[in-house]
Amino acid sequence: MNEKLLLNNLRNIPDYPKAGIQFQDVSTLFKNPDCVKEIKEELVRIYKDKGITKVVGVESRGFVMGGILASELGAGFVMARKPGKLPALTCKASYKKEYGYDTIEIHTDAIEEGDVVLIHDDLLATGGSMQAVYNLCAHFKPKKIYINFLIELAMEGLHGRETLGADKDITTLVTVRR
Ligand code: PRP
Ligand code: MG
Repeated sequence: MNEKLLLNNLRNIPDYPKAGIQFQDVSTLFKNPDCVKEIKEELVRIYKDKGITKVVGVESRGFVMGGILASELGAGFVMARKPGKLPALTCKASYKKEYGYDTIEIHTDAIEEGDVVLIHDDLLATGGSMQAVYNLCAHFKPKKIYINFLIELAMEGLHGRETLGADKDITTLVTVRR
């Protein structure tokens, strides 16, 4: 995979949304067709033989490549959404984020016991949101849960990997250390 292409197209925005945060803006990856192709091909290479039946995308930046990947893998796409957005019965989990609190929900009929699930999101920071989505998915007792992030932030004070735990099956495409 061309890691440089992705790193060169990822935009760093200092002090957003508040002072001290180095915001990693994936919109500059998503608007570049070469980057989207590179990401898609790498994710397909990693997951094509894993028997994935459901890709769970985390609102909102996990919807973009998550949807593309589900289509490529011939899997269903499930939305893990911010509170109050899903119309049918949901289960929900609240979690602490790098800068605040949030809640995530999933429809109660989104995943079945026979499913092999891949949860996808754009970025691993504290791991709080992924841990919440993982717990929601685990509740359905699927056969297996994989986790993917496009970007892993490796910075002081962020312990995303530790939060998720060594027992999880996690891949990340690029690591950012700034
Ligand atoms: C960001 C990012 C990840 C999450 C990572 O999403 O897209 O989903 O935070 O942080 P964590 O590892 O500390 O949980 P955000 O909730 O800002 O919303 P968005 O995707 O809708 O922009
Ligand atoms: Mg997000």
